[in-house]
Formats: sequence, structure tokens, C-alpha cells
Amino acid sequence: MLNIIVLNGPNLNLLGVREPEIYGDQSLEELNEKLQELADDLKVKLTFFQSNSEGEIIDFIQKNRNKADGMIINPGALTHYSYAIQDTIAAIKIPTVEVHLSNIHKREEFRKFSVIAPVCIGQINGLGYYGYAMALSFLADTLNNKEE
Ligand code: DQA
Repeated sequence: MLNIIVLNGPNLNLLGVREPEIYGDQSLEELNEKLQELADDLKVKLTFFQSNSEGEIIDFIQKNRNKADGMIINPGALTHYSYAIQDTIAAIKIPTVEVHLSNIHKREEFRKFSVIAPVCIGQINGLGYYGYAMALSFLADTLNNKEE
């Protein structure tokens, strides 16, 4: 069975409370539950992780590097400046999709640039929960095809 990491960075634990006009009123738990239902249909195992700390995120990715087939990551604000997470994703070579709930190109200037994007297969932004669902469908399809 494929194992896919779903990793959320700083402040995403506050979903539902945090600027709902931008990020929606769904909590991270609710978002993860919906994603789990999709994963059950796709017969994929998900490993969820959220942290507000860059170091914990790096440690988690490193520890799971031999257990995971793919990764969906929303690095939060670390997207825009964490060369350390960029290096980690480059080092471990787990196929990774970057997701953002909001349309980062429609917002402040500093959000338009991602240092994570160059080490990912692709980036989905502005589609809320559906970005995670699409990333999961994509990884399940492409990784399963590779296994066959
Ligand atoms: C975000 C966009 C980032 O700019 C912001 O810092 C976040 C959330 C998003 O999902 O839209 O924390 O990654």
C-alpha cells in the first residue's frame, strides 16, 4: 500500500479560526478527515504531521524518508524562505506536491515566491481543500502506475 505524508507547517493548526475569509472555516482536523476518506477510496495510507517549527518539520521528513512514497506539503510561511526545507526535499527525493489553500499570487508580494517549488513536482494553490485532494489523486495514480 502506498504511504503518503501530508505535512502542514506553521499556523495551519489554526485553520478555521485563522483569517477565515482567506483560509476558510474548516479546521485542519476536518480537512484531514475529508482527505482520509478519499485516501480510503484510493487505498492509500496517509501519515499526517503538523508543526510550527522548521526543525521539527525537517526531522519528520528525514525520519520518514524510507517509509514514504510521496508527500503533500503546505509549508505555510516557510514556503517563502526556508532553504533548509528546500534542501531536505532535494536530499530525500520523495515525490512531493506543494499545496496552498489560498491563491498566493493574488496576495502580498512576498507570498508570490516559493523556495520549495523548485524541488516539487508541482504546486497547487487557491483551491482550498481541493488542492490537497488533487495532489493526493495525482500521487496515488502516478505512484501506483510506477509500482505496476
Ligand atoms: C499558505 C500561504 C502562505 O503564504 C501562508 O504563510 C500560510 C498558508 C496557504 O495555504 O495559503 O501559512 O501556505
